[in-house]
Amino acid sequence: MIMRNRTVRVELGARSYAIIIGEGLTARLAECLPFSLAGRAAFILTDDNAGRYHAQALKEALMSVGAASVETLALPPGEKTKSFPYLEQTLSWLLGHRIDRQSVLFTLGGGVIGDLGGLAAALAMRGIPFVQVPTTLLAQVDSSVGGKTGINTSQGKNLVGAFYQPVAVLCSLDMLKTLPRREILAGYAEVVKYGLLGDLEFFEWLEAKGRDVCALEPESLGHAVETSCRMKADIVARDEREQEVRALLNLGHTFGHALEAAAEFDGRLLHGEAVAIGTALAFRLSVRRGHCPPEVADRVEAHFRAMNLPVDIRDIQPRLTVGADELLALMEHDKKAEQGRLVFILVNGIGQAFVARDVLLEDVRAVLQQSMGMNRK
Ligand SMILES: NC(=O)c1ccc[n+]([C@@H]2O[C@H](COP(=O)([O-])OP(=O)(O)OC[C@H]3O[C@@H](n4cnc5c(N)ncnc54)[C@H](O)[C@@H]3O)[C@@H](O)[C@H]2O)c1
Ligand SMILES: [Zn+2]
Repeated sequence: MIMRNRTVRVELGARSYAIIIGEGLTARLAECLPFSLAGRAAFILTDDNAGRYHAQALKEALMSVGAASVETLALPPGEKTKSFPYLEQTLSWLLGHRIDRQSVLFTLGGGVIGDLGGLAAALAMRGIPFVQVPTTLLAQVDSSVGGKTGINTSQGKNLVGAFYQPVAVLCSLDMLKTLPRREILAGYAEVVKYGLLGDLEFFEWLEAKGRDVCALEPESLGHAVETSCRMKADIVARDEREQEVRALLNLGHTFGHALEAAAEFDGRLLHGEAVAIGTALAFRLSVRRGHCPPEVADRVEAHFRAMNLPVDIRDIQPRLTVGADELLALMEHDKKAEQGRLVFILVNGIGQAFVARDVLLEDVRAVLQQSMGMNRK
């Protein structure tokens, strides 16, 4: 079956761009880009996993549309790659090939490569054009869209970075076929997040079709990626630099980041898994504060469970050794904490998220303890 391309525009004035969603996009590269590649030097930044399966096809496609040269750099996979040493390596690689402002960087990989490569593109020659070619579900629905780029430091995640928009995002759905099942499910948690924060109808559709999405059935997958990108594009167009509405995209993330930090990024908890637990906790906290009825939180948890995603802190294996107070301390460290009070994205119901700036520590502690299996209701 030939599927039509779906296109979502990110409207940012002179920096507007298209997200193109479809199958086999590398073979149709020329149609997808806002300018001709003829005579330009092209660079592919990837990691060993994404590169093994998809770099050769992209390279051939770039040659066939007339790129003057194509260089590839494959970095080790994993979050540790989003760091100063690999940023330096990437910049040295680009500059060593004598790039100019016509050169184009293609980031072929998940959020790690997209975030790192985007920052390198922003910095090299004070900015060269870059194209996101996301190869994980998480990257296709979230990290490749919106221009947040960055690396981690010893002080925390994403603390060094820039807002720098790509010139195009190519979501080639077929590239997800090589992605491990666990990574697909983790990305799916971010898809669910969009329904939960602003679109009840989409969440209801996911309750019915989530299995098809995660089985990579093309029509359902395409719809899920398009709807997610449309919501993110809309929010980014209204608030590129996260002054207000963009914060809603952090639903589940204050809890999630603390859990990730507590798990020390050792592979027992993927980002999307942390977001699934964090989102369930955000609903529980909303119930506790009287914003929404408990049945709503039950319904959200039921969907995550049905999709084989974790919803409670005690689901993490091997178990976290930290307690509720240590998790609270990690949340206060999170850059989203404002003047001692915890800022959370809470909900009045499915699809109705809002920013709460006055959340009491004791409410958060109670919700954490319950999810750890202490203080059961
Ligand atoms: N910039 C943003 O707005 C934003 C938003 C959300 C997340 N992020 C960042 O994204 C990162 C997480 O992204 P991710 O979940 O894509 O992780 P990732 O980039 O580490 O990819 C996950 C794993 O899948 C492998 N992989 C990638 N594509 C593959 C493919 N097609 N086939 C087989 N294996 C493949 C990778 O090598 C890696 O092992 C985090 O660093 C997070 O901070 C950024
Ligand atoms: Zn996320």
